[in-house]
Amino acid sequence: MAVEAKIAPSMLSSDFANLASEAERMLNCGADWLHMDIMDGHFVPNLTIGAPVIESLRKHTKAYLDCHLMVTNPLDYVEAMGKAGASGFTFHVEVSKENWQELVQKIKLNGMRPGVALKPGTPIEEVYPLVEGENPVEMVLVMTVEPGFGGQKFMPNMMDKVRALRSRYPSLDIEVDGGLGPSTIDVAASAGANCIVAGSSVFGAPEPAQVISLMRTSVEKASKSN
Ligand code: DX5
Ligand code: ZN
Repeated sequence: MAVEAKIAPSMLSSDFANLASEAERMLNCGADWLHMDIMDGHFVPNLTIGAPVIESLRKHTKAYLDCHLMVTNPLDYVEAMGKAGASGFTFHVEVSKENWQELVQKIKLNGMRPGVALKPGTPIEEVYPLVEGENPVEMVLVMTVEPGFGGQKFMPNMMDKVRALRSRYPSLDIEVDGGLGPSTIDVAASAGANCIVAGSSVFGAPEPAQVISLMRTSVEKASKSN
């Protein structure tokens, strides 16, 4: 079954002082989703944005806001993120072992799509129960760098996780995040990733539209041959 390509520029690499126009620029360049990195300075050594910024951006765009919560207590953020207008709420499995069922339920109740992310050191088996449970997550985000900062180098050995997920779940949304760009997209796409987060490679390009379209073509080609 072919999955849909979703190209999601990471707004962490945008000019935060001009977030609304940066978002519009990315959508005009062909972005499907906008990836929003929420960091609490505790789960990761960086502090970024939270619900108030999502709420401000929501007033300027109808786009799918793909929110990646790199926070220690994701449950505490669900209601505020829902009210702010987040579309997807992806939490980390490392901090949700005890309460992921409650978390997924609350995310859905608050009108968002639940996803689970895992850091490079976390074995893929840890997310299986969340995909196979009664109230499952709808996306798995495989980190291809240590979370915290944009502009890091893609970790190709994470593709074993993507391949394992794709062979087990043919129609699942599988997102990769970190170091994606023209030189790494083919490896990720042929492993089975269909949702592609890319920050520095898109915002740093003279023609972001070309990078977005190249990544889309790569995912579409690979998903047809899978
Ligand atoms: C890293 C973030 C990523 C980051 C990706 O912790 O989750 O979304 O912005 O940026 P690039 O594409 O530059 O690696
Ligand atoms: Zn991210």
